[in-house]
Amino acid sequence: MAKPHAITPRKPSFDVRDVPVFWNDGDPVLTRFFDALSVHFPDGERFFIQSVRNYQDRVTDPKLKEDIRHFFRQEAHHGIVHDTYNTVMAAQGINVDKIVARLKMAIRLFQTHLPPKHQLALTAAFEHITATLGEGFLEGEGEMFRHAHPVMRAMFLWHGVEEVEHKAVAFDVYETAAGGGYFTRAAALLGGTAVVHLVVGSVAWHMLKVDGMSRRPLLIAKGLNRLYGPRGLLTRLVPRYLDWFRPGFHPMDTGMPEKVEAWLAEYRKHEDPMLASDMVFGDPALAQAA
Ligand SMILES: [Fe+2]
Ligand SMILES: [Fe+2]
Repeated sequence: MAKPHAITPRKPSFDVRDVPVFWNDGDPVLTRFFDALSVHFPDGERFFIQSVRNYQDRVTDPKLKEDIRHFFRQEAHHGIVHDTYNTVMAAQGINVDKIVARLKMAIRLFQTHLPPKHQLALTAAFEHITATLGEGFLEGEGEMFRHAHPVMRAMFLWHGVEEVEHKAVAFDVYETAAGGGYFTRAAALLGGTAVVHLVVGSVAWHMLKVDGMSRRPLLIAKGLNRLYGPRGLLTRLVPRYLDWFRPGFHPMDTGMPEKVEAWLAEYRKHEDPMLASDMVFGDPALAQAA
């Protein structure tokens, strides 16, 4: 297993006021896929926090106790930042209130009918999805956001890095304080993946309808191919995603990817997520001149 990694809460802010509608390479599908994820983050992350909080008192390891506190602070700030972007999407005509109300209702159902251990397994599974995505954001040449608006790229890279930093917290609480168990966690990822696709798919479709893009099948097919095609941005993450089903898996088996470390080292110098993201994937000369 890789060496333990410090989790550092950061509180950056992002000026999203001038973000264009199709901020990710001008591609409606690529943009609305991430927008549909983003709109669910604030309440989703509050659910993750609560699921871990249910077991916080049973954790005895001092390092894990400290990691939990930092995990809470990171997730809480992710919620605040994505909430700000929700106001931009609402101004575009997206029915953010309805989407959020539907999510709150689903979370209430989960919290009422699922045992706390299953809520935690689901949280650990969602954290595996967000960490896998976070590693994907930063791998290779950063293709997911290479031509994205710089503010949105910086926002997703910062969030992605922190998801990688705290990727083991919910898993470790599940294993050490909730009794663990392979089949519950395996089922949680299968169920969680189905829920994410149903929810994100339907919300992204609503967004594309609002944009007037839902009757552009070729454009939609091209965008879906960029995500799910044979060389798609998400397709290439499948082996990492499937790691979860290996008995004995631990999120830190893969450690901290090189580009995540590079982002962290850069951020430590100036605490500017825009500059850190430009230095890792943009033109360093331009970033330094800015
Ligand atoms: Fe998060
Ligand atoms: Fe997270």
